[in-house]
Amino acid sequence: MGEFYADLEQKLEKLRDEHLFRELKSVNGAPAEWVEIMGKRLFNLSSNNYLGIAAHPLLKAAASQAVQQLGCSATSARLIVGNYELYDQVEEDLARFKDTEAALIFNSGYMANLGIIPALAGRGDIIISDKINHASIIDGIRLSGAEFLRYKHIDMVDLERCLKKAADYRRKLIITDSVFSMDGDLAPLPAIVELKEKYGAILMVDEAHGSGIFGENGRGLAEFYKVTDQVEVTMGTLGKAFGCSGAYVAGRKVLIDYLHNKARSFIFTTGLPPSVLASVQAALQVVQEEKWRREEVLDKAAWVRNELIEAGFKLLNSQSQIIPILVGDNAATLEFSNRLFDVNILAMAVRPPTVPLNTARLRLTVMATHSNEDLAWAVKHLKKIGQELGII
Ligand SMILES: Cc1ncc(COP(=O)(O)O)c(C=O)c1O
Repeated sequence: MGEFYADLEQKLEKLRDEHLFRELKSVNGAPAEWVEIMGKRLFNLSSNNYLGIAAHPLLKAAASQAVQQLGCSATSARLIVGNYELYDQVEEDLARFKDTEAALIFNSGYMANLGIIPALAGRGDIIISDKINHASIIDGIRLSGAEFLRYKHIDMVDLERCLKKAADYRRKLIITDSVFSMDGDLAPLPAIVELKEKYGAILMVDEAHGSGIFGENGRGLAEFYKVTDQVEVTMGTLGKAFGCSGAYVAGRKVLIDYLHNKARSFIFTTGLPPSVLASVQAALQVVQEEKWRREEVLDKAAWVRNELIEAGFKLLNSQSQIIPILVGDNAATLEFSNRLFDVNILAMAVRPPTVPLNTARLRLTVMATHSNEDLAWAVKHLKKIGQELGII
């Protein structure tokens, strides 16, 4: 027994030495532009509440009402007795929002990818994945038992090389994030669609950071690029721009019927509680009616990016509300984050294995409801501290 705990301690010590140790911080109060951590009020540049609706009065009222009417739990898996009518309504709303025949809710984006990918590809199939796709996609691929090729990040020549190599497989499934979660850049969906059609592959797009933000109706990056009809499997999350919790897949009815029967992370788990579903229903209404939120978040992010690029920061190729400031070294990234914390700015450090070795960064995220004054003030501190630490 002693040896077991000593081994864990030794491994944690190694993480500390490499500045890779992770720790939970308690946050007080409702999610907002400013949050309280360790008694300090901090400007929040680290949340995925991009549209600023996680504490929207309509979402809160819908959730409270559902608790009063339906209680606090789905009480079983949905295929048993957990399939509240509300589920059907929200899935219909989601399908209408995404302009697809049907939709299916999962308990989280992680669980969605863990369920969808192995349901759609297995032994005898091949999955072709962007090199920096989210961890949940990678874990879904590992679970699937399918062959696996990775193409260089957003490199279409390399994607074509993989597709040629995959010619003899029964099913070829290409998977990509739409907006990359740690780089904030965009998948070239029109070029991916062209290649997948040329080589007879199917395409799954993870719109975790795209839906609610991009496209005329906020459906996501596929809508922005006008390729929605060519994407067979669209997945999106509800805990980011939508300010709720959970995730969904949207597509043809036959796909959704198939996933009801084959997606294990859907079948073998208790459904989300009614309050979450009710808040999702309200969020869908807000996202569609309050278009100004997606316009603001993208405008404000563009302003911040320009300021930081002019100051000399390296932002990779961010074109979205996710703005990485590349530092490289783990300790230096932590120091940058800590110095910002001292002046009341929350900008979390992201280190390996979340990002590749030697590419530690601050991951800044802009919210539609950040004030211009607060953003200007934060940018001033980012530049000042960035200079003092020799990052610019
Ligand atoms: C691209 C991508 N997919 C899936 C997920 C997982 O979503 P969730 O947080 O709902 O589990 C994330 C979360 O950060 C993500 O960035």
